[in-house]
Amino acid sequence: MPDSIFRGLPSKAYTDKSFWAKENKNVFSKNWVFVGFAHELKNVGDVLPINVADQPVLLIKESKDKINAFHNVCSHRCLKLVEKEKNVGQIISCPYHAWSYDLKGNLVSSPHFGGTNNHEPKNFLRKNNGLKSVRMKIWHDWIFINLNKKALPFEKYASSLMKHLRDINLEKIVPVATLDFGEINTNWKFLIENYIEPYHVQFVHKKTTSQPLKDHYTIVDGRCYGSGVDLKEESTAADSLAVSSKYLSLFPNFIIGTYYPGQIGVHLNIPIKPGITRQKRIIYTTEDMQLKKKEIEKLRNLWWDVHKEDHEICERLQLGRLSSAAKNGGLLSPHWEKSVRAFQKIVIKSLNKS
Ligand SMILES: [Fe+2]
Repeated sequence: MPDSIFRGLPSKAYTDKSFWAKENKNVFSKNWVFVGFAHELKNVGDVLPINVADQPVLLIKESKDKINAFHNVCSHRCLKLVEKEKNVGQIISCPYHAWSYDLKGNLVSSPHFGGTNNHEPKNFLRKNNGLKSVRMKIWHDWIFINLNKKALPFEKYASSLMKHLRDINLEKIVPVATLDFGEINTNWKFLIENYIEPYHVQFVHKKTTSQPLKDHYTIVDGRCYGSGVDLKEESTAADSLAVSSKYLSLFPNFIIGTYYPGQIGVHLNIPIKPGITRQKRIIYTTEDMQLKKKEIEKLRNLWWDVHKEDHEICERLQLGRLSSAAKNGGLLSPHWEKSVRAFQKIVIKSLNKS
């Protein structure tokens, strides 16, 4: 086999529980992980429980401009504090012994902890026993968590991605539609790998897109990789993908697509189990692009169909990994799947750091 043709990751990278545990420890605990959309925490008191590296984390809307992130456990007996997305008003109360926290994570009530009517016994200070904070960065509408607190500052970590988005005014993005796909029966890496290679577009999306393969190029730039397509003749219809685009990902799980002239899409891919990933896409307009309700509906339907085409493929990639013939991984195109190779190399490098 020529040197430039590489094998993909072995099957166990997509199916094996111990590989999954290693990923949680090294990939999802040590990097900036994309976890949610700031605009979805609308009102003060909104709380959103999430899982990062299989750990319960809680996002809290403290004020109009502030979201906080904490480990989602009560300081008393470490019960998982919030189970479901809701509005808590001003106080988060543990159902077990009614220990309560304000929206800044301060412990404000620990009833009868030292005996009847003794709420703050000797050697115990409420102010030292608030919720444990988690390192968080909100970049435009996108919430990132770094559990081990040791990743590079986000601006440095994401600098290569930011460079490729320079042409777009991200200050002006407006979310116009949400596509919640729920759980897909595939490993999170298949969704990323599928997104960042242009090779499949002409075959899988022949009904939904008209971006010829020859006009595509791959992008590999540190933690950022993906593909782009520059078209000379572009469609202006809202339900057409015949426009110049960039399909980018930031390690490990952030995905952003830009569609000239005024549309971007961001996917949230939440790993649930080795073979299950939850996915959501938000469609944004930017550069003051005005779309009518009907156009947004068309756009939503178009993207729904594109994602469904990809999901079918990614679920079959997962099923293929049950075959003993897939044990050592498949083959990667030396030209079109350079981006996939780059992503897989970072996954392996992260695991070997432990
Ligand atoms: Fe695709």
